[in-house]
Amino acid sequence: MKVLGINALFHDPSAALVVDGGIVAAAEEERFSRRKHGHRPVPFAAWELPEQAARWCLASAGLEPTDLDAVTYSYDVRLARPADEMGLHDPWDHLRQTYARQAPEFLATALPGLDPADVTFVPHHVAHAASAALAAPYDALLDAGGVDVLVLDGRGECASHLAGTYERGRLTTHRTQELPHSLGLLYEDLTEHLGFLRSSDEYKVMAMASYGEPRFLEELRRRVRTSPEGGFVTERIDWDAMAKRLAPGEQWSQDHADLAASVQRRLEEVLLELARWLRGRTGGRVLTLAGGVALNCVANTVLAEHSGYDEVWVQPAAGDAGTSLGSALHLAAQAGERLVPMRGADLGRGWTEVEIEERLRTARLRYERPDDIAETVAECLAEDGVVAWFQGRSEFGPRALGHRSLLAHPGRRENLERLNDVKGREQFRPVAPMVLADRAGDIFSRGPLPSPYMLFVHDVAPHWRDRIPAVVHVDGTARIQTVDADQEPLVARMLTAFERRTGLPVVVNTSLNTAGRPMVDDPRDALECFGSAPVDLLAIGPFAVRRPTA
Ligand SMILES: [Fe+2]
Repeated sequence: MKVLGINALFHDPSAALVVDGGIVAAAEEERFSRRKHGHRPVPFAAWELPEQAARWCLASAGLEPTDLDAVTYSYDVRLARPADEMGLHDPWDHLRQTYARQAPEFLATALPGLDPADVTFVPHHVAHAASAALAAPYDALLDAGGVDVLVLDGRGECASHLAGTYERGRLTTHRTQELPHSLGLLYEDLTEHLGFLRSSDEYKVMAMASYGEPRFLEELRRRVRTSPEGGFVTERIDWDAMAKRLAPGEQWSQDHADLAASVQRRLEEVLLELARWLRGRTGGRVLTLAGGVALNCVANTVLAEHSGYDEVWVQPAAGDAGTSLGSALHLAAQAGERLVPMRGADLGRGWTEVEIEERLRTARLRYERPDDIAETVAECLAEDGVVAWFQGRSEFGPRALGHRSLLAHPGRRENLERLNDVKGREQFRPVAPMVLADRAGDIFSRGPLPSPYMLFVHDVAPHWRDRIPAVVHVDGTARIQTVDADQEPLVARMLTAFERRTGLPVVVNTSLNTAGRPMVDDPRDALECFGSAPVDLLAIGPFAVRRPTA
């Protein structure tokens, strides 16, 4: 069975292709359109479909739209209600319903040959839930006892949360929380109050929280409460009473960091109660997570440590991008397909050596083909160079995981500043380390290992903090990516070569993009990024392009 999944309505439009239960391709529209997040998350942009991503997904499998058995759309307009009935102030929300209703015809226009009658609307949170439980590497458990799933985001049709269990391809929903109560919208409100872009910059708030003390926690506890049946209440919060509203780019104070720390802590407390409630009900062993809130790696670590579940697995594309994949998996499971778990996030575009070399020739760049690009990169990093690393297929989801990455030496604290400058990032934000999986336990503790998707935080062992200061956040933690040599042989070889030279099995890894741009996806993006950023070496496929020294 061939299913094309589409996410378009709220955030991060994306497409995914599932064939005979296996994930063939998945990509976000932003990587093609070069517009970060695809479109703004406003009702009047909700018609925009992931046209290029969808076309590429089909082309990558040699399929035509007429070959598809089904198309899923991760929002079910039949469940929607007027915004004011749900207690939301969003006068244009009805446009979402209008566009969603027309989506099958819009899709048939974008992908000629597609039959609008083949389009199935999958409820938004079911799509999120499936993206976690059905993609997680616990296929045996899915048949025996099931896998629990918790979805938390800003909003779906009229809820912001789902607690359920997937067993034998079927979802049992134990609880949903109706709007206007929403932990995702609460965090977005704070993001905006702190002068950042809502539905986009929430991870900056999480980073800022590490600089504060949760001294507003009692007020937050009064306003944000769990209910006995596994739901929660979020009351209106007078943010100004705790810290004044910031304009974009305005300097934040201790009050703002304390407010961020308070909301972060309350979020962790509430998530923990929701997870414990679910476990109390199901007795489950594995918890899977999706929805934008599941990108909060600090909260994920609290759940992994204290929820009572043996294991916690988070969908790497936990935001709405992942719902294209989840909706397709859900439909395939319902049809009785045997699903193959997700083995990595490298589900986007890849390029042959011939294609890459052609692009280098077109750009008339001087390049070389070393015996082993991994050694060349390790050497450059050891000499404190910054490397743009473009290898294999691009990642699905917001994290660079060793395919479209910017790499640097972790031993020099000033490299944090250097990378944040390249990327136009605020200096208070940490950069993350990639580490050889079999060495991770020596250096990092607390968070679960392995951690291949950068979705948890770990404590850096005290005697390592001075050795890798560039990747240690102000609170002594790091958001790590463990690299398994079987899964990622090239990245592992580069890390091993770097360790041989420096004694450090760790390299700084941040996404390959410059300020305000989506991650680099194709070779031309890589060259444009290399051309405009102070990067010393571009490792693109087996080729090395060096920045000429002045
Ligand atoms: Fe969502």
